[in-house]
Amino acid sequence: MSTNIALAITGASGALYGVRVLAALLERGCDIDLVVTDFGRRLLRDELGEAAAVDRLADYLARRYGPRVAEGRVALHSNKDLGARIASGSGGADAMVVVPCSMKTLAGIAHGLSRNLVERAADVMLKERRPLVLVPRETPLSLPQLRNMLLCGEAGAHVLPAMPAFYQLPRTLDDLADFMAGKVLSALGFKHDLYPKWEPR
Ligand SMILES: Cc1cc2nc3c(=O)[nH]c(=O)nc-3n(C[C@H](O)[C@H](O)[C@H](O)COP(=O)(O)O)c2cc1C
Repeated sequence: MSTNIALAITGASGALYGVRVLAALLERGCDIDLVVTDFGRRLLRDELGEAAAVDRLADYLARRYGPRVAEGRVALHSNKDLGARIASGSGGADAMVVVPCSMKTLAGIAHGLSRNLVERAADVMLKERRPLVLVPRETPLSLPQLRNMLLCGEAGAHVLPAMPAFYQLPRTLDDLADFMAGKVLSALGFKHDLYPKWEPR
């Protein structure tokens, strides 16, 4: 049985991280409930080009990551659709990732606002004690933003800031995205070889 993951792409910089996580989960045969916020849609196009627009994402993934992305299935939801399956505790996903996660969406999740599908689906994960992985990207951080990360961590979320390491000697943007996607997969309990494990020299 495949795993059902809710994946949200919001309007923080780092659309490539979201796309890489999506591809990595699809390669593992996951069923994805995808929600892309309005600013997430903008960042996909601004940072990856028109070919990565939401309605062309399947082709983009196949071209960039190969045909194995067809192992999984994607259902795209409107962020306004608070009646979607992932908005319900009884029908929600097994786990959720918000990557990249804007400070605005982080704040909404930290305070349980449920103003849209991303915030509601994340709230469902927290109340049902299921894995929620948040990948915020912002710098520097204000005190409210730091406090919101603390609140999410205290509520049980994995707060996994987009801070790629350099000990694996990355050469390309894809190497950096692979590192972050690998960290997300580890938090979800998947084995992977998206980056070389640290070996003491
Ligand atoms: C080009 C661009 C880059 C942005 N980068 C970030 C960012 O890295 N982190 C962040 O928290 N917000 C960033 N923002 C601001 C968010 O997009 C904005 O707060 C938006 O309201 C987030 O809405 P959403 O969470 O519904 O996607 C950026 C906005 C633009 C236009």
